[in-house]
Amino acid sequence: MSTPTFLGLDIGTSAVKAVLIDADQTILASESASMDVTRPQPGWSEQDPESWITATRKAMALVKAAQPEALSRLQGIGLSGHMHGATLLGKDHKPLRPCILWNDGRSAKECTELEAKADFRGIAGNIVMAGFTAPKLAWVAKHEPEIFEATHKVLLPKDYVRLWLTGEFASDMSDAAGTMWLDVAGRKWSPELLQATGLSMDHMPDLVEGSATSGNLRGDLCAEWGLSGSIAVAGGGGDNAASACGLGTVVPGSAFVSLGTSGVLFICNDRFSPNTDGAVHAFCHAIPDTWHQMGVILSAMDSLTWLSNTTGTSAPELTAALDGPLNGPARGLFLPYLSGERTPHNDASARGAFIGIDHSTDKAVLTQMVLEGIAFAFCDSLRVLSAAGSKIDSALVAGGGARSKVLLDILATAMNIELHLPEAGDFGGGFGAARLGLTAATGANPAEICSQPRIVETISPNAKLTAAYQEKYQTYQALYPALKPLI
Ligand code: XUL
Repeated sequence: MSTPTFLGLDIGTSAVKAVLIDADQTILASESASMDVTRPQPGWSEQDPESWITATRKAMALVKAAQPEALSRLQGIGLSGHMHGATLLGKDHKPLRPCILWNDGRSAKECTELEAKADFRGIAGNIVMAGFTAPKLAWVAKHEPEIFEATHKVLLPKDYVRLWLTGEFASDMSDAAGTMWLDVAGRKWSPELLQATGLSMDHMPDLVEGSATSGNLRGDLCAEWGLSGSIAVAGGGGDNAASACGLGTVVPGSAFVSLGTSGVLFICNDRFSPNTDGAVHAFCHAIPDTWHQMGVILSAMDSLTWLSNTTGTSAPELTAALDGPLNGPARGLFLPYLSGERTPHNDASARGAFIGIDHSTDKAVLTQMVLEGIAFAFCDSLRVLSAAGSKIDSALVAGGGARSKVLLDILATAMNIELHLPEAGDFGGGFGAARLGLTAATGANPAEICSQPRIVETISPNAKLTAAYQEKYQTYQALYPALKPLI
């Protein structure tokens, strides 16, 4: 009998990625198609849900062109996607407006209003933050009442793609936890929290575990992609939980640092461990009976992208100028709050700053300040996760930023933890989703399938510089409260 293959579809903010693996988890094809984000007003961030379908179709056409025979042996699909997006569908199952994304800060006021109506912190285990889904619905109810009234279902981005793939309304526990309508300990929707937002259980998709089957691929898509038989579509996960499945961060106590557009410090927990102080995120994991905590930095590598766009110098060129041994922190400081901040401030209106520049501050120094600002933001996440009972001595490192040696040196030294660099390969959300597709199709144990990659390098803190970075971090911490009244 021919060996089966499995597919992960990761609906990222800037691209859809399709990753095809075989039963041994070797990647056979990895293809992407890009998408746009619109910013209709400062602090807003939206995306056309149809662009997810168009990009998925494009990425799948590329996979089919690259590996038609391997694709024809497909048995399972897993989904990963950017979290918290509000995709509002009418009775005809079509989007009523563009999706309001995870990094959209328009609903700060509605967060406070919702918290006054129900025990969101107790049941959903998190502060209601502007990026989350529930306050976005409260904003729509207030500012676009006709759209709110017409809303028949509310879906997360990857679940809209699932609807197109399978015809089913379903979500998984990890992504559902980011809506603020989930009873995160009980892994079920909370009628109380939905009611506080003017919604009911009817507006919600069904819930499945990330490693379980949510439905089967539609016949016309099977025909389009040259597939036969029944193809299971797994629950999948929010992009962070799916990445954790890709990186093998499924064992309680294991952690990873993700250096993407946003930055994430993620730790796997064997139980629901909320701690709303310091804006710690406490969500379900994408595998059964497992939870996780994370600190989320809204503009991590996005801060470097911003500097790159502003200076007209590519990000690799900017960081290459810092190559060589790390000599200690730059004189000035950068606050990376370009689109507000979640952890630890929960402040959608926070803004970034360069502090302490002088005539010697050239492009290289600005780059170092930006990288150190990102690193200090991770120190904040480490501090609040530690206050929430999670001790992190080492973490795997993932995401585009992991390619910058200087950033890794700064990060390990500032956080004073060891960073483990996995072997070359793609262990992101798409790969994690493919693993979940495999477990759904075969019934394999997700904890066994989601093993850790081989570590090829460990970046240790530079003991000569940790004290200097600690001192600088103290100054960094003083800046946000000092500047808040001014900007
Ligand atoms: C997590 C979060 C981001 C998005 C986009 O809470 O908002 O990590 O999932 O990647």
